[in-house]
Amino acid sequence: MYNAYDEAASLIENGETIGIGGFSSVGTPKAVPAAIAQRARTLHDEGKPFQVGLITGGATGQQIDSEMALAHAVSFRTPFQSNKDMRQAINDKEVAYFDLHLSQIGQDVNYGFLGEIHTAIIEASEITDDGEVILSTSVGITPTLVKVAKRIIIELNQSHNDKLFGMHDIYIPETPPYRKQIPIYKVSDRIGSISVKVDPQKVIGVVLTNERDHIAGFTPLNETTIKIGQNVANFLIHEWKRGAIPQEFLPLQSGVGNIANAVLGALGENKNLPPFSMFTEVIQNSVIELMLKGRINFATGSSLTLSEDHLNMMYDHIDFFKNRILLRPQEITNHPEMIRRLGIIAINTALEADIFGNINSTHVLGRKMMNGIGGSADFSRNAYLSIFTTPSTAKGGLISSIVPQVSHVDSTEHDVRIIVTEQGVADLRGKSPRQRAVSIIENCAHPDYKQLLWDYLKLSEGQSCHTPMSLKNALQMHIAFAETGDMHNTTFK
Ligand code: COA
Repeated sequence: MYNAYDEAASLIENGETIGIGGFSSVGTPKAVPAAIAQRARTLHDEGKPFQVGLITGGATGQQIDSEMALAHAVSFRTPFQSNKDMRQAINDKEVAYFDLHLSQIGQDVNYGFLGEIHTAIIEASEITDDGEVILSTSVGITPTLVKVAKRIIIELNQSHNDKLFGMHDIYIPETPPYRKQIPIYKVSDRIGSISVKVDPQKVIGVVLTNERDHIAGFTPLNETTIKIGQNVANFLIHEWKRGAIPQEFLPLQSGVGNIANAVLGALGENKNLPPFSMFTEVIQNSVIELMLKGRINFATGSSLTLSEDHLNMMYDHIDFFKNRILLRPQEITNHPEMIRRLGIIAINTALEADIFGNINSTHVLGRKMMNGIGGSADFSRNAYLSIFTTPSTAKGGLISSIVPQVSHVDSTEHDVRIIVTEQGVADLRGKSPRQRAVSIIENCAHPDYKQLLWDYLKLSEGQSCHTPMSLKNALQMHIAFAETGDMHNTTFK
């Protein structure tokens, strides 16, 4: 049956670039992208071409990345994604993917670096009497998209009623050479408007939906993630007690994923730390729980990436949360200026770390895209303290997450201050490459892999060089895994 969503989708032409509103799988449009995927299937069945370029704030929902990838409807995609079907299409070279820091995508769109945005498709929770849009559970790059796009389609999601009214803080920096400082001097400073101004001339359709966001559930905590969380918490308490973190503590950023959620849980539960605030990208379930317990006093982010029960929990206490949460464009939540000024403690997750402190967050064995860099390096480069966590092994112990050389670099040795695994904490501050290697192997590597890593360090050490690296052997552990399925089988030459 032909409906309003199909009608909206029929306005999208082959070859367009589409800007999708929302962020981190929430607050994204749902019905129209699914109808575009269906339109692609129908046209392909008729032997006609149909593909669009997809620019988003970050990860999107099932109806976008999954449906559109499976319908072969995407020519290029940027930035972060975390969907298995889109990941497959990217690694199969069907979708041209380019990965970008999340603080930069909005301004790249604004500067026109990515060409014309033909249609912006966004989700709203309300449209005010004077035609302004109240966004829903996220902001992402939506304000920029509606500013630059030629045409706009709005999904008005009626499932949030007026609950989110007043929670957004919409601000887009001027473009150089007229840009001024962003006037946030403490996490809770409100600087923008609660709504997004949309040119009514550009709106080609408003469709009604009534559907909550669907987010992937978290894996229950296990021994490893609990230990990583405790190690981070103990390290921060130690730093705080010795005065290296101010008495009132500093705002935290915590990355996405299971480990990040576990770390935040451990920090929040630890009563030795004072209540803290969050200046982060994604507000996850644990933030809502810790706010109700009085452990987190304020949080700003670009999305409320909450499971349905946690969103309901927030709505049940909406007056309490409205005074404690602000949703901002990712250009602000991840802005280097803010991160440096506010002194953020950043905690992100690595796939692998090398013995010198370089971090790979994105590429499995240097080649296969996992999700993307997200905001991890926006934070790691500019943070007061930049911490990376990872279990010391992956794939049931067949992979060591501590390796001689990462197979792809996302955050460099110059940005990474602390590495934490379930084995312990390596504090890299003030250490030379060789000293960092000793600290990382000693404190973070799994006992099964320590000797291999010591052997590598020893055979690389004889040369006259600043960084003890063996060109011949740097990727030998990866090669052993690729060839035999087990890094234990590594032999150095
Ligand atoms: N080599 C190969 N695979 C590895 C690996 C390694 N060294 N380390 C982990 N993996 C695999 C795991 O086995 C798992 O695979 P599976 O999905 O087949 O089970 C997968 O990677 C995810 O690992 P998991 O332990 O579940 O971690 P996670 O959910 O915490 O995600 C990242 C970890 C790094 C993928 C995720 O944090 C991410 O995408 N980070 C980059 C973006 C970012 O940091 N954003 C936040 C900024 S605000």
